Amino acid sequence: MFSLVMKSLKSLLTPLLHRYIHEDFHAVVAKMTIIDTFLFLIVHSIDKLGIWPKLPVFLGLFYLGIRRHLHQEYNLLNVGKTPTGVRFNPVDYPYRTADGTFNDPFNEGAGSQGTFFGRNMLPVIQTDKLKKPDPMVVATKLLARRKFKDTGKQFNMIAASWIQFMIHDWIDHLEETNQIELAAPREVASECPLKSFKFYKTKQVPTGFYDIKTGTLNTRTPWWDGSAIYGSNEERLHKVRTYKDGKLKISEDDLLLHDQDGIALSGDVRNSWIGVSTLQALFVKEHNAVCDALKKEYPDLKDEELYRHARLVTAAVIAKIHTIDWTVELLKTDTLLAGMRANWYGLLGKKFKDTFGHVGGAILGGLVGLKKPDNHGVPYSLTEEFVSVYRMHSLLPDHLALRDISSEPGPNKSLPLKEEIPMQNLIGLKGEEALPKIGFTSQMVSMGHQASGALELWNYPLWLRDVIAQDITGHDRLDHVDLPALEVYRDRERNVARYNEFRRSILLIPISKWEDLTDDKEAIEVLNEVYGEDVEELDLLVGLMAEKKIKGFAISETAFIIFLLLATRRLEADRFFTSNFNEETYTKKGFEWVNTTESLKDVLDRHYPEMTNKWMNSASAFSVWDSPPVADNPIPLYLRIPQ
Ligand code: HEM
Repeated sequence: MFSLVMKSLKSLLTPLLHRYIHEDFHAVVAKMTIIDTFLFLIVHSIDKLGIWPKLPVFLGLFYLGIRRHLHQEYNLLNVGKTPTGVRFNPVDYPYRTADGTFNDPFNEGAGSQGTFFGRNMLPVIQTDKLKKPDPMVVATKLLARRKFKDTGKQFNMIAASWIQFMIHDWIDHLEETNQIELAAPREVASECPLKSFKFYKTKQVPTGFYDIKTGTLNTRTPWWDGSAIYGSNEERLHKVRTYKDGKLKISEDDLLLHDQDGIALSGDVRNSWIGVSTLQALFVKEHNAVCDALKKEYPDLKDEELYRHARLVTAAVIAKIHTIDWTVELLKTDTLLAGMRANWYGLLGKKFKDTFGHVGGAILGGLVGLKKPDNHGVPYSLTEEFVSVYRMHSLLPDHLALRDISSEPGPNKSLPLKEEIPMQNLIGLKGEEALPKIGFTSQMVSMGHQASGALELWNYPLWLRDVIAQDITGHDRLDHVDLPALEVYRDRERNVARYNEFRRSILLIPISKWEDLTDDKEAIEVLNEVYGEDVEELDLLVGLMAEKKIKGFAISETAFIIFLLLATRRLEADRFFTSNFNEETYTKKGFEWVNTTESLKDVLDRHYPEMTNKWMNSASAFSVWDSPPVADNPIPLYLRIPQ
């Protein structure tokens, strides 16, 4: 009866709604409940005015909370069949398995290695326009770096390496065994380092479903389970464990060990560089330190138990640093500072949670420690669109600026430059040979003092236009690839919506002319040259780089919406961050370890007590280390108004 009344009310309101709501949203709103329609109206009205980033923090959080709810309802699509079977008892698996199975009690395979990427919107089949416009033309005219643009003091090379470290935890597509080739058209061939290149297609697998007929598979476990250091299956895990006191292998000089082919022994080493190996080594040390602390506290614990507990703790430390340290630097506004802390601690805050434990639901008490995991009715996975918005290779510079750590730090703890090493000498196998000569401390401090590249047009490193790609085992392939061109092709091949449809699908007002996207006259000219006037043709990657940024955001708003949804989901859907985030599962000591670690700085201080004190002036290890620490603001966080 109630629903009938609501339905009639909605049909009465529809003509009014249509007059007010952008026409591209009429269809989706027609499917919404009346409450969601009302919530959408709030968000849409604020979007029309373009003011959410300027709202006082508490109102900004309200806006983001509503948006997140709408996306949880309308932007989580399952790919593949959901198995129906007997549920397992979580008590039998109080630890993270090697391949990510047995996390979701209702679906033992969810989030495991080799499962489907999910979707945030319906696929857009582009078979007839895989090369329209030509990916090498797009890469040459709109992406290729002209002059290096950096992020000022906001985001450093540790931050860039960190996100790659996370990618190595979460996502990588399974490929076919047959190659295809892309060739540079004459109009840009002279500017393309590779006149043509070969690569392996993404493997498409039938789903057995009607609406999304094929899908792609993730070779990494999408859970936030530290698989970049532990691997995504038993075989890899076996290679990195010592089987003594729960510990992982590490060299005497605190770096990763290597096999007979020179490949680093770590969870995931494909297409990597020494910035990532340094972080992998740091978190192996963290894992081993947790093992030591647990063994001291609980001498009866055996190798396997120590390993399991230490993995839980280390994965949670990584997730926490990402949530309340890394993301806060990426999206540097008071609203996001409050939002990210609320994801971990809840609106009631850390002090309250430390004293009284998790109280209330996700909003008051935070996602972490919720009584039950919540996947919003869709089995956990990361999504195709998530992969696309994480295409952030423009964060990478052309050189690593190696600092001289033997000289005394100058003003703001700055350090003289020792050498500029081309990035292509620091990737893959070559990089692994170079790292022991540089050493852990020089590498970390140098990355700390160097700004990352900005996610803008014309800032994609040229050295990635002729780069050795590796296979899944980390061995070099024979064929070099033009990475920006390949990325444009990948999104099309994987049926990811182009920029404007992507925006529509996440309820952001689409653009109708290039001027809606950017104020840059030259960009508009080149967009016209490549895509004509058809804004629907704009590739997602190009749109994300070209979009006017919200002040303080290092990424586009379009990318941010996918983050908002999936950063929440990575915590909320995982039983080890919710129902099993407790002393019983982590041990009292382990639980305390997570609860008292707040930042990457804390981890660095634990293992290298002299490092941040001597060389880091900034408040976060992810902003450039010679920047001033943030000045105290006497206004309570929730009441602040963005400038
Ligand atoms: C020196 C550093 C890096 C190198 C050499 C490198 C190289 C590569 C290569 C060769 C691919 C495979 C492309 C394909 O076949 O489709 C790839 C994929 C990718 N990279 Fe990087 N990359 C680096 C850093 C980064 C960074 C900093 C990010 C930032 C988030 C990133 C994000 C990604 C993503 C999201 C993919 C797609 C994964 C997938 O298809 O599932 N990479 N990278």
